[in-house]
Amino acid sequence: MPGTDGFAALVADGGICFGGDYNPEQWSREVWREDARLMREAGVNLVTVGVFSWAMYEPTPGAREFDWLDEVLEVLHGQGIGVDLATPTASPPAWLGVRHPETLPVDADGVRLVAGSRNHFSPASQVYRDAALAITRDLARRYATHPAVRMWHVGNEFGQVCHGDEAAGRFRAWLRDRYGDVDGLNEAWGTAFWSQRYASFDEVLPPRRMPYHPNPTQSLDWRRYSSDLLLGVYREQRDAIRAIDVSRPITTNFMGFFPLVDYTSWADDLDVVADDAYPDPGDPHAPSSSALRQDLMRSLRGGEPWILMEQAAGAVSWRPHNLPKSPARSRLESLQAVARGADGICFFQWRASRAGAERFHSAMLPHAGPETRVHQGIRRLGADLARLRSVTGARVRARVALLWDWSSWWAATEVARPTDRLDPLEQLRAWHRVLWADGVAADVVHPGTDLSRYDAVLVPNLYLMEPADAEALTAAVERGASLVVGPFSGVADANAQVRPGRFPVLLAGLLGVSGEEWAPLPDDGVDLIPSGASPVDGAGPARPRAAVLGELLRADGADVLATFGPGHLEGAPAITRHAPHTGAPDEGSAWYLGTVPDDDTLAAVLRAALDAAGVEPALPGRPGRDTRRTPGDDVEAVRRGDVLFLLNHSGEPARLDVPGNWTDLLTGTPVSDEVTVGPTDAAALLPAEAGHRAPAGLANQGDRQ
Ligand code: GAL
Repeated sequence: MPGTDGFAALVADGGICFGGDYNPEQWSREVWREDARLMREAGVNLVTVGVFSWAMYEPTPGAREFDWLDEVLEVLHGQGIGVDLATPTASPPAWLGVRHPETLPVDADGVRLVAGSRNHFSPASQVYRDAALAITRDLARRYATHPAVRMWHVGNEFGQVCHGDEAAGRFRAWLRDRYGDVDGLNEAWGTAFWSQRYASFDEVLPPRRMPYHPNPTQSLDWRRYSSDLLLGVYREQRDAIRAIDVSRPITTNFMGFFPLVDYTSWADDLDVVADDAYPDPGDPHAPSSSALRQDLMRSLRGGEPWILMEQAAGAVSWRPHNLPKSPARSRLESLQAVARGADGICFFQWRASRAGAERFHSAMLPHAGPETRVHQGIRRLGADLARLRSVTGARVRARVALLWDWSSWWAATEVARPTDRLDPLEQLRAWHRVLWADGVAADVVHPGTDLSRYDAVLVPNLYLMEPADAEALTAAVERGASLVVGPFSGVADANAQVRPGRFPVLLAGLLGVSGEEWAPLPDDGVDLIPSGASPVDGAGPARPRAAVLGELLRADGADVLATFGPGHLEGAPAITRHAPHTGAPDEGSAWYLGTVPDDDTLAAVLRAALDAAGVEPALPGRPGRDTRRTPGDDVEAVRRGDVLFLLNHSGEPARLDVPGNWTDLLTGTPVSDEVTVGPTDAAALLPAEAGHRAPAGLANQGDRQ
């Protein structure tokens, strides 16, 4: 894989990539020189250039004006700054839409959007795609051998959707490819319902504005198609570059759990995964949510290092009320990404824009210049990242898999379900938060992933399930893994048609429990009654409660750990554990949650399942449980390679026991047996002795692979 190796080589050469988007077209030559100097002084080694430069390169149709970019690259190269050169295709020049209105996207109401912002292109437009390819090729031809160019960046945050006629044509072709003939489509979409039957593909439309609920499978396929269409646009540009430059890595920037693109199906087409993340400083769950998306980014390419491509140095400007982010917090968020596998820490953007919609967005270099808290914080971060060079390339080894599937998320969030309060992403976040608080590393993987390396498989919600998915989960339990499955899983097949029978139909035998009714719960929830010696008993200070959704279940061999209290489901099992007796000698156990329990109860169930599988946290004992050693729950512990990162997200110092001798890479100081991590600060502990064996509980959390 030349491109992938290219990223590793880039990091081996210069250490952690550090920098940000740089938009020199907004500035004069004098400013370019000042910028390059300040970048070098701050430790910047990579900037993304040209993301929004199309109208500068091609001010009139067919023109090419690259001289200014030649100069920019020379200036940057002169200071040793590498360039991640972007194809400028996210924002076409205004003339393209004026001359070719079909290049502009059409929304679901039939409104054609206009130029004047950005992203005003239809990924279905052949004219747009040809123009995008032409400028991409010319850029690649001109700069493929330029010594400043270290990486390629295709477009920006792919996510455009078009409902216009050209898009309808491509949608029909995609459907023909998927179903072969229109009967296949009718079958898959269940068009006998509401007289939706199609006699020919020509009658099929994108889900535009309709009188009432759309066909859920039509919507699901539309989302699959839209993701595939954009992938096609990315690939065209990627291939055009690769035909000219055989070795430099090529990427594009993802957006975490972005609802319009299935990154699982994209990741193999990137040489390195890159993500743009803008956690809300006002969100108390931001640290754990960030950890989750970082785990996703790391997992998308099987644990390879990834790049945090964009983040804000301070406040963003696109929320209605933009809370600031302190330099300390910005630094901590960056170190968190490194701890969770990033080998690149970049920002949007280097210098704050004076004009345009982002004039109040923070930057590495604020309007007020370098003598500012924000810029000084950036310089400090640059120095920190240089000190962390030895972690580059190292892996986070997780023994827990969290299953996540974009199609299932899409299908589970279509209209007209028992409740729209059960959000698969919120469920994933709640489950992951337990692991995060306990310092248990987890990968976020697609159901098709090889699960054999995991000792626990957690399935917060997998609404769509196929036999192969159920077989993989069964095999995991037979191997000895703990499996925990959350509510409203295994409900439907890949066409989003409900599977008839007692649910979850494909897993009922493995789980030893089956259901017959989905019952959304009253707003104030219901009691959960622990039964027997259940981990649910005494899980938290309050009585266990269930919310959102309950299921009318029957235990068919599983132990009942909790039942529902008074209400529609009274007395029925709510939480179960099953030893399936498959005949496999070391089989594990299969747990089922037929509801959304309170956080303490969820944590008790997950911890019991992890204990059963022998999964240990990154620190001996669990900070979130009886052996808590910190004043708050906000100290994150994660191991990358040999290095134990401790990230204190709280406003209080945290004292932690860390048996053994270490060196804190961030301060260069030795640490023995205990360490105090300051508020909004971090430690990166490297075992002091060569060949050091980590104490029990640390041993299996990290590996250099
Ligand atoms: C990103 C985008 C950048 C910039 C940034 C502001 O979504 O890629 O170009 O707009 O947001 O937060």
